[in-house]
Parts: sequence; structure tokens; C-alpha cells
Amino acid sequence: MHDTADLTLRPAGPGDVALLRGWERYPHVPSSPPGCDWCWEVELAAPRAGVEPMIALLAGRPLGFLQILDPAREQTGYWGPVGEGIRAIDIWIGEPADLGRGLGSRMMASALARCFGEAGVCEVWVDPLAGNRRAHRFYARHGFRVLGPRVLDGDACLVMGLSRSDWQAAGRGATLRRR
Ligand SMILES: CC(C)(COP(=O)(O)OP(=O)(O)OC[C@H]1O[C@@H](n2cnc3c(N)ncnc32)[C@H](O)[C@@H]1OP(=O)(O)O)[C@@H](O)C(=O)NCCC(=O)NCCS
Repeated sequence: MHDTADLTLRPAGPGDVALLRGWERYPHVPSSPPGCDWCWEVELAAPRAGVEPMIALLAGRPLGFLQILDPAREQTGYWGPVGEGIRAIDIWIGEPADLGRGLGSRMMASALARCFGEAGVCEVWVDPLAGNRRAHRFYARHGFRVLGPRVLDGDACLVMGLSRSDWQAAGRGATLRRR
């Protein structure tokens, strides 16, 4: 069980554009698509239906970005036709000094608790780039299984999924079950 006591999530808003742009300068952070200079301004001014962008805070300090999507409602069609009960997660840490210290695992634990806290959600998907082996390992450690390679928005990705039953079997649903 991950201690998430001093880790909180809050909605990302227009006031976070400079923070996100600052983080995008680092090579480990996925950057906006080329030519999309105003992506964050547009995204954060009025988040799209089915998209929940959030900032993770560690004891109040911005730590990273976390986005939960409902592929059935999200309107760009990024995931293609998808039924109800799925959520997709995008996650990254901002400052390089915060990488590899267990903080992303705590963010992921919060994200999964939030996804599976909704009764109808049966599976969570992630889509790391096919070559991002360290991210594959990170997700596998959190119980995700490989669903298969897919090209998403022109990028070769590896789609991985975590079912509610696998999440619960790993003891991660214990807090919710006790409620
Ligand atoms: C993936 C990520 C959120 C994990 O958070 P973290 O706090 O670094 O991870 P933890 O300390 O909890 O766990 C360590 C594991 O995270 C992964 N990881 C660490 N640094 C990483 C990096 N720069 N890129 C990708 N994965 C990384 C590795 O699997 C690592 O295990 P290893 O040391 O055995 O290789 C974070 O590393 C990150 O933001 N990476 C860059 C962006 C990214 O790849 N996002 C996910 C795909 S979109």
C-alpha cells in the first residue's frame, strides 16, 4: 500500500500553463505536438468532456501532471471506438530531481483509486511509447498487463491495461472495500 497522505490532486486550470510549459523543457516530459503552441491554453481554459487534467501536489508543491480520460466520452476519438467502463491515464513528473523516488508510484496509486472509485469502471488503460521500456516496467509493477501494440495519433505505443479484479487482487482496493 502506498502512503498518499501528503500527496493531493487538484484540477489543472489556466493558471498552470506556465508550470506545464516549464516542465515541458525537460526531455523526460512528453511535449505538446509540433505546431501546437497554444495547446495548454486551449486545454485548460475549458477541459473537454471526458477529460480530467490534474496537478499532483506533494505537501502543496506541484509535483507532476495527471490526466484521467473516459475514452467513450472524450471527443477527439484518440482511442477509437470504446465502450463504457474504461478510463485512460496520462502521468508524468515535472522536475527531473523528483524522478525515481517512488513519487510517481504514489501518484499512480491515487489515480487508480480515483478511477476504480467509480463503480462502473472495470479497466484502466495506459499508452506509453513503444520504446519507453522504463515506463512499461513502471506500469507492469502496478499490475498492468500488455494489451498490445497500437499506433495512436501517429505514435507507436504499447497499450497496457489493469482490470478492477487485478487491482483488487493486488490489495489495492482494500481501502475502498472498507468504506
Ligand atoms: C513514469 C513516471 C511517472 C514514474 O514515476 P517515478 O516516481 O519516476 O517512478 P517510481 O520511483 O515510483 O518507480 C521507479 C520506476 O519508474 C520508472 N521510471 C523512472 N524514471 C523514468 C523515466 N525517466 N522515464 C520512464 N520511466 C521512468 C522505471 O520503471 C523505474 O523503475 P526502474 O528504476 O527499475 O527502471 C516518471 O518516471 C515519469 O514522469 N517519467 C517520464 C514520463 C513518462 O515516461 N511517463 C509515462 C508514459 S507517458
